[in-house]
Amino acid sequence: MKISVVGSINMDMTVTAERIPLKGETLKGENLRYIPGGKGANQAVAMARLGADVEMFGCVGNDSAGKALIQNMKEAGIETSHIKVIEGTPTGIAMITVGENDNTIVVVAGANGCVDKAYIDSIKEAILDSEIVLLQHEIPLETVSYVVDLCHAHGVKVVLNPAPAAPVSKETLDKVSYLTPNEHEAAILFGEKPLEEMLRLYPGKLLITQGSRGASICLENGQIVQVPARKAEVVDTTGAGDTLNGAFTMQIANKVPVEEALRFANVAASLSTEKFGAQGGMPEYEAVIKELEK
Ligand code: RIB
Repeated sequence: MKISVVGSINMDMTVTAERIPLKGETLKGENLRYIPGGKGANQAVAMARLGADVEMFGCVGNDSAGKALIQNMKEAGIETSHIKVIEGTPTGIAMITVGENDNTIVVVAGANGCVDKAYIDSIKEAILDSEIVLLQHEIPLETVSYVVDLCHAHGVKVVLNPAPAAPVSKETLDKVSYLTPNEHEAAILFGEKPLEEMLRLYPGKLLITQGSRGASICLENGQIVQVPARKAEVVDTTGAGDTLNGAFTMQIANKVPVEEALRFANVAASLSTEKFGAQGGMPEYEAVIKELEK
């Protein structure tokens, strides 16, 4: 039972500092690290680490970063054979500042911008041979809706993590099986309104993540469930949202009920913050279960 991710693959250039600089301010950082990232690749690694059978679809440049990122995914047990290597366009990068238990990220798409309709057409069969497909917003948005249409037409479930924030047409929102914005992304999708009002728009399918406050969902029976965050010894929150998305998607693929899937994903995300780097702290399945049993 394969889970596919169609998304971004980035090299994260991460600096740590005492805090995140203010606009116009210069701060002394501690060190610079090059770490595998990209919301798509992170979500794929999160699922593979939890034991899922995962294939990653996306593009990298023909450069050392692209090679290292593919190797990193292979080592995580992810199928990478349909990742396209693009000549003349660099691998995507993210400039990340980590400080005071938070981060700021600037992404330069590079080869992620080449994840276009023609690429999707060339790998269509492999995508459709999936139990579920997980998408984010770090590839061209027209490709995102193209994949949603394709999967919908063939009865393949889709989880859309609409990050970074961007508007999505109602037609596309209606076609996805699960939608996982944070509060900011939800406001871009639905306009400023109370959380509960947003959740009631898509019972059983819309979950809204709330950072250190956890995540909420409206079940199909109309009950609103707020899952509080587990207390973590936070080192780096980068990739916590990706861990939540990966863990949630894997549980849904395993036919786990949505509330239980969210509780599992919430704990996985919190565990991921206890180590450095987007993928560094992503937990194995047993570690999540152990925490849930506490
Ligand atoms: O969600 C975290 C990720 O966002 C980072 O790994 C970075 O690459 C950006 O895509």
